[in-house]
Amino acid sequence: MDSVKFWAVVPAAGVGKRMNADRPKQYLELAGKTVIEHTLYRLLSAGVFEAVAVAISIEDPYWPELEVSAHDKVITAAGGKERADSVLSALKSIRDLASDNDWILVHDAARPCITSTDIHFLIDSLADDAVGGILALSSHDTLKNVQSGSILGTLDRSHIWRALTPQMFRYGSLKLALEIAEGNPAITDEASALELQGLQPKIVEGRPDNIKITRPEDLALAQFYMEHQHD
Ligand code: CTP
Ligand code: MG
Repeated sequence: MDSVKFWAVVPAAGVGKRMNADRPKQYLELAGKTVIEHTLYRLLSAGVFEAVAVAISIEDPYWPELEVSAHDKVITAAGGKERADSVLSALKSIRDLASDNDWILVHDAARPCITSTDIHFLIDSLADDAVGGILALSSHDTLKNVQSGSILGTLDRSHIWRALTPQMFRYGSLKLALEIAEGNPAITDEASALELQGLQPKIVEGRPDNIKITRPEDLALAQFYMEHQHD
């Protein structure tokens, strides 16, 4: 029997509207490289992936200019309308290579501070799991349920986690869950597609430096974290 393999999938076809920059945020410069180069080189240097399938917008002029786009472990797929469409497209691009039982780690291009520690911790925590799971962080702030500017109540924080990436699921069940959920706007991460199937993905506590670059101030924060990371 073939041993189970690991593949990374990187959705990188967003426009970065909230970043309000002159180009998609994955192509902004951060500590001497673009955001997406940091992300991809960190995934590649984790040393566990057969290949990294990257979903890129078909109108993207920046991607072919990057050396990493020609890396022999990088596969380019066409991006889709929503993040879930981009992930599904990247999964389809490796359908002749991956087995249903292989593990897929989906990681946002916009999270360049991902560490090998977090990748290996996620893999080690879930290797024997039937479903898979995600890196997540508990919330430090008190959380309010609000309607029309007024507080209706306080949520029980112990049950609330913030979903990060990578999110790790089996190739076959992830692809099927995304196909069934296609067009459903409630599917904002991979776990939600599996939850819709009645499955219960696991939570693995991630590092707080694995931030997603979303707004302009996040670039300086990512640079700060990179300067202070030692793995
Ligand atoms: N993404 C994608 N395909 C889409 C939309 C998003 O591959 N149709 C990717 C983004 O490139 C990013 C990740 O999904 O790496 C997380 O999405 P988000 O942070 O929301 O990025 P954007 O959609 O680009 O940003 P915004 O929502 O501010 O426009
Ligand atoms: Mg978005």
